[in-house]
Amino acid sequence: MISKPNLLVVGVGSIGERHTRCFQGTGRANVAICDSNDTLRTDIAQRYGITHAFANWSEAVESDFDAAVICTPAHLHIPMAIDIVNRKRHALIEKPLSTNYERVDELKQLVESHGVTVMAAYVLRVHPSLAAMKAALDSGRFGKPVHATGCSGQHFPTYRPAYREIYYRNRATGGGAIQDALTHLINAAEWLIGPIDTLAADCSHQVLEGVEVEDTVNVIARHQSGALASYSLNQHQAPQESTLTVVCERGTVRCEFHAGRWRWQTDPTDCWHDEPCEPLERDDLFTAQANHFLDVTAGLAKPTCSLDEAARTLKTNQAVLQACDRREWVTL
Ligand SMILES: NC(=O)c1ccc[n+]([C@@H]2O[C@H](COP(=O)([O-])OP(=O)(O)OC[C@H]3O[C@@H](n4cnc5c(N)ncnc54)[C@H](O)[C@@H]3O)[C@@H](O)[C@H]2O)c1
Repeated sequence: MISKPNLLVVGVGSIGERHTRCFQGTGRANVAICDSNDTLRTDIAQRYGITHAFANWSEAVESDFDAAVICTPAHLHIPMAIDIVNRKRHALIEKPLSTNYERVDELKQLVESHGVTVMAAYVLRVHPSLAAMKAALDSGRFGKPVHATGCSGQHFPTYRPAYREIYYRNRATGGGAIQDALTHLINAAEWLIGPIDTLAADCSHQVLEGVEVEDTVNVIARHQSGALASYSLNQHQAPQESTLTVVCERGTVRCEFHAGRWRWQTDPTDCWHDEPCEPLERDDLFTAQANHFLDVTAGLAKPTCSLDEAARTLKTNQAVLQACDRREWVTL
């Protein structure tokens, strides 16, 4: 009988708990956890029946694990990933990859020399509607993408009431709308139509109480492919909606994440043709991502989002921040 791999979840706050539950739910891994918060760690260990629960990283990284999921705030992702890869273990890293480009090239070199895999947890990549829309775009059926529009909003205080107390309140720990949320939309767009080449952006703190970081952002961009684009997002509107529209030479496609469908139209006198996916529960995408990551560690699949792709989106995050702060166009 083949034994299950040992999986270490580092940081069992909001998303780390979800990963713990979803990896356990696959039935394909023995899950251990690490969190420096004693109360939280004890609670998660009890509720999920975890026998190996480490209070500090230096102890956890020396334990017997095959792969780790990094769910700490973003400024810790790269140093922890380097520790993991140095021990020849695989890593799944939560988004964003980091808050700056420090040691990213070192991590890339280690990954190459040690022959392990690092995957970034940009979870929209396993969304069945986005994946189906990408397959349709890649088939060439609609021609070349020429114009993209991404639009996203969520009432953050409802979905993340602790936002004032966590990494979100400070850009240095991965906070603010650009690094926290816009990065999902940008990563999805770069997956569909390739990397962004130049951009201008504007952002501001408009509404969220108790923090000063930006909660609203607009980006206009040009992708390397020549496609023009705009991406806008806020974290205070009542409707929970995210759409990504790509206008191609011979048709328009739109992913409506919140509605669980993608749609297309090619004839201006016709109407949208809907392509719905099966209804999704919140854990479903994370379970699919967990299964995919386990396949990757077994050599059966390629990462949904590679280290190189996540590093490219990190550069875009940085460029958006720079464009906002300096009020200038930035070339990546
Ligand atoms: N993919 C998604 O949909 C999604 C959603 C939420 C958060 N995230 C990302 O996941 C990461 C964590 O976000 P969160 O909302 O779970 O934050 P959180 O604050 O709820 O949890 C982070 C946890 O890390 C622990 N921690 C911090 N430093 C540590 C250390 N040195 N050793 C061990 N534990 C340590 C903290 O005690 C905390 O429990 C962030 O990068 C965030 O952007 C992704």
